[in-house]
Amino acid sequence: MRVYLSGPMGAGKSTLAREAAAALGLTPVDLDARIEAAAGKSIAEIFRDEGAQAFRVLERSVALAVAAEDDVVVALGGGTVVDPEVRRLLRRTGTLLTLTAPPRVLARRVGAGANRPLLGADPLEALTKLVRERAAAYAECHGRVDTSKPGAVDAIVRLARDRRVLVALGERSYVVEIGRGVRSRLPARIEGRSTLAVADENTRRWRDAIAPEARSLDLPAGEEHKSLETVARIWDEALDAGIDRRGLLVAVGGGVVGDLTGFAAATLLRGVGFGQVPTSLLAMVDSSVGGKTGVNRPAGKNLVGAFHQPQFVLCDVETLRTLPAREAVAGRAEIVKAAWLQGEEAVGALEAEAEALRAGDLDAHVSAVMRSVALKARIVEDDEREADLRRLLNLGHTLGHALEAAGAYRRWVHGEAVALGLVAAARLGVALGRMRSTEQERLLRLIARLGLPVDLDAALSDEVFGYVLQDKKREGDRVNFVVPGRPGETTVVPLSLEELRRGLES
Ligand SMILES: NC(=O)c1ccc[n+]([C@@H]2O[C@H](COP(=O)([O-])OP(=O)(O)OC[C@H]3O[C@@H](n4cnc5c(N)ncnc54)[C@H](O)[C@@H]3O)[C@@H](O)[C@H]2O)c1
Ligand SMILES: [Zn+2]
Repeated sequence: MRVYLSGPMGAGKSTLAREAAAALGLTPVDLDARIEAAAGKSIAEIFRDEGAQAFRVLERSVALAVAAEDDVVVALGGGTVVDPEVRRLLRRTGTLLTLTAPPRVLARRVGAGANRPLLGADPLEALTKLVRERAAAYAECHGRVDTSKPGAVDAIVRLARDRRVLVALGERSYVVEIGRGVRSRLPARIEGRSTLAVADENTRRWRDAIAPEARSLDLPAGEEHKSLETVARIWDEALDAGIDRRGLLVAVGGGVVGDLTGFAAATLLRGVGFGQVPTSLLAMVDSSVGGKTGVNRPAGKNLVGAFHQPQFVLCDVETLRTLPAREAVAGRAEIVKAAWLQGEEAVGALEAEAEALRAGDLDAHVSAVMRSVALKARIVEDDEREADLRRLLNLGHTLGHALEAAGAYRRWVHGEAVALGLVAAARLGVALGRMRSTEQERLLRLIARLGLPVDLDAALSDEVFGYVLQDKKREGDRVNFVVPGRPGETTVVPLSLEELRRGLES
């Protein structure tokens, strides 16, 4: 376990690192002390003799070294996380927490500040400015703790032990909380805000149990209701409830409720807050994270939409207890996909818990959801720089979508079609010499053990190939096909329909 405490000077990082380390049975580390030891002089002297630039270089190398140590609670420097590379490494190797306090409290604690080279003559003004400048960096954290309130050590311990995935997007960052019973955290998230809690007829019982006081709206269940008309119902209900710019729309349901509510939130008053309580496995591992929202049009699925990130996501695996069995099985296809994209460790872990997942074991679901969400979060974060990475999420989906369409969206539910799409992708991988047949067998065995369909030949038809050509991601007469190799070695290959057919019928 690694816990990093960040935040401005005066937030209490060093003291709380010692106290939290004692409570967690870990070793406290003080980054500034390490830097001073490495330099052989005090921080103030490093600044005076070598300048701020040299200090940051030294701080960076010491931070990278500490991130390789196990079982530590690290008090970072106030500016350590300003370096984007360091920040990314810290949040991916441990729990990164931001300690905060009102500037007045910070200034009082820092006092005269003889050893604080950045503060100057007016600490209050300097601290206020510093916190503002670093707001985006400090927002990329697994949790915040206000150290001017009692119980800071307990809060750190609780956050360190919690299962949470950070989606780091500057000031729009949010945390996906995963576990049994996390739905009970909803009231605290909506407290003091005008809220409309949206569900469908099958998920309303969860909403009513956790947020009985919130204004509520029930939608009819089903993909056929993922329309602009349904969005208009959400808009009108929210306006009727007096939702203001600080208000919040919360989706309690599967991907349909989430996409509809998110789109309503993106557009209402040009954007109000949005929170997700996903209740289907697909929504937990896929649709609730990433901020894609939207509706279907007669011309096709998801053709109108917007990016609108949620402010929180509460993935409570206990809600899966009422999910119809077929939906529960289908959602596992996305978990297989995510594991194969991630690499050997994730595939091995999924193989080890396949039977437990199949038996509906909730703890196995917590860890499988954690891994899938972690992958999605990384891809969402890196999207701007690594557009290819997001394309990889389409693994199993090009053929999957064609199967769904050819079956008029009745023969297969999405996850079943994706499972067959994964079978097809593996077959292509072998045909193209990118995957060994032992790996293909391994992937097929995993899919079958999770209760998903694998009989591709029975599902293929001319009609299916016809739909492949209508793929949104087509370029000319070629389709960008995501082809797996060994776990973690997936690539995108442009293929003509002929090449695709030959590969799949080989
Ligand atoms: N935004 C994204 O990034 C993204 C990604 C993937 C999929 N999607 C969208 O997600 C949708 C599919 O999501 P889905 O599979 O969750 O479908 P869904 O929302 O239709 O849910 C499936 C069925 O299960 C019911 N249900 C859900 N949770 C339940 C529970 N806990 N107990 C009892 N019944 C429950 C629903 O009422 C529905 O009947 C599609 O519209 C797809 O386009 C979006
Ligand atoms: Zn999918």
